[in-house]
Amino acid sequence: ATGVKAGELIKRLMKETNQLYGNNSPVEFDTAAMIAVDNNIELVIKRQKTAEEELIEEFEQMMENVDPEKLRPRPPVVTIMGHVDHGKTSLLDKIRKSNVAAGEVGGITQVIRAWSVTHKVLNPDDPNEELLEKQITFLDTPGHEAFTKMRARGANVTDIAVIVVAATDGVMPQTEEAVNHAKAADVRIIVAINKVDAPNANVERTKRQLYNLNLLPDNMGGDIQFVETSALTGQGIDDLLTAISLEAEFNLADELKADPDRPAFGTCLEGYMTAGEGVNATVLVQQGTLRPGDIVLCGANYGRVRTMYNDHGVAIEEAGPSTPVRITGLGGVPNADDPFYAVDELTTAAKIAEAREKKDREASLNRFQAVKDLDSLTAA
Ligand code: GTP
Ligand code: MG
Repeated sequence: ATGVKAGELIKRLMKETNQLYGNNSPVEFDTAAMIAVDNNIELVIKRQKTAEEELIEEFEQMMENVDPEKLRPRPPVVTIMGHVDHGKTSLLDKIRKSNVAAGEVGGITQVIRAWSVTHKVLNPDDPNEELLEKQITFLDTPGHEAFTKMRARGANVTDIAVIVVAATDGVMPQTEEAVNHAKAADVRIIVAINKVDAPNANVERTKRQLYNLNLLPDNMGGDIQFVETSALTGQGIDDLLTAISLEAEFNLADELKADPDRPAFGTCLEGYMTAGEGVNATVLVQQGTLRPGDIVLCGANYGRVRTMYNDHGVAIEEAGPSTPVRITGLGGVPNADDPFYAVDELTTAAKIAEAREKKDREASLNRFQAVKDLDSLTAA
C-alpha cells in the first residue's frame, strides 16, 4: 500500500512524460524513481531475467522434476538449533556416543556437521516385538551469533528442528531466533529442555518462557513435543529420538518421501580445501542416489565424484535420499547452500556452471555499483 491511488499515479506519469500509460505499462526507471521519491514510495524493482538466469531456472526445474509414483519413504532430516553453549553438540555426541565437542576448536561449532543415526523403536504391529530400525539424519548448526545465516540455512534442508534450551539459562536471544527461523522455514519443532541435571536448572521457568513464544504442548492446546534432556547423564536422549520418530511418522509421513532411483540432487552444506584431497564438499542428498564417478554440478563448480565418504569417514559406493556425504572431485570449492545435481554430460555441467558464474559476477558487480551510487549521493 503506497497511499497513492493508481489513477493519480497514471495522471502524474502522463503529465511528467507526455505519454499514455495503462495500469501495467512499463515505466522508465528515472521517472518511476522521481515519482517514488516525491510520494515516499518504496520502489520494488522487477527486472527482466537475464539469459543466464533463464537457463539456470530451466535446468533446475528439469532436474528437480520428480515422479510422484516413484516416491519411497526417506529418513527425516533434523537440525539441532539453539543458543550458544546450550548443549547442541553435547546432545548429538550423546546420541552418537562419540565425542566431537572435545575435538572442536574452542568448543564452538564452526561448520555444519551432519550425521546419520539409527534408532531402534518398538514395532507395535509385530507380535514378537522386534525392534524397528529408524534412520534419522542430524545436522548440528553453530550457536554463535556470527552464524545467523548458517543457522537460517540449516532450517531450509530440514524437516524437523530440535530447539535446545538449557534449563539453566532459559530462553535466550538465539533461542528466539532459532524458533523464528524454524517457523519461517515451516518445519516441525521439537523442544529439548537440556541441562536438567544441573543444580541451577529451572525447568518450569524455561517452559513458561517457551509457552510465551507460542510453543505449546498438547495439554495446553498446542502440538509441540517437549523433552527434558541431559547431555551429561543421558537422561531423555531416548525420549528425544522417540519424539523425532513420532513426529516423522504422524506429522510428516507425506513429506518424508523421495525417489532413490533417479540422478541425485541436493544441497551443499559446506565446502573446503584440504592439502591431501583438494576440494571437499559435504552435501546432503535429497533425491536420487549419488555414486562415485557421477558428474556433479555444485553451484558454479563441477567435476566427477572421485571419492565419497559417509559420516564415519568410510568410503562408500552409494548415498540415497537424506544421506549426508563428503565428496571429492569438484573443480572448485562450492558454497554452503549451493544446490547440487548429478548430470549426464560434462558439457551440461560446464554450461550451467558458466551461467552461474556469470550470474554471480553480475550480482556482485551490481552490489558494487549500488555502493558507488550511494557514495556519490552522500558526496553530493
Ligand atoms: P555452540 O556449538 O558453541 O553453540 O554450543 P553447543 O550448544 O553445541 O553447546 P556444547 O554442546 O558445546 O555445550 C556447552 C557446554 O555445556 C559444555 O561445557 C557442556 O559440557 C555443557 N553441557 C551440555 N549439555 C549439558 C547438560 O545436559 N548438562 C550439563 N550440566 N552440562 C551440559
Ligand atoms: Mg556446538
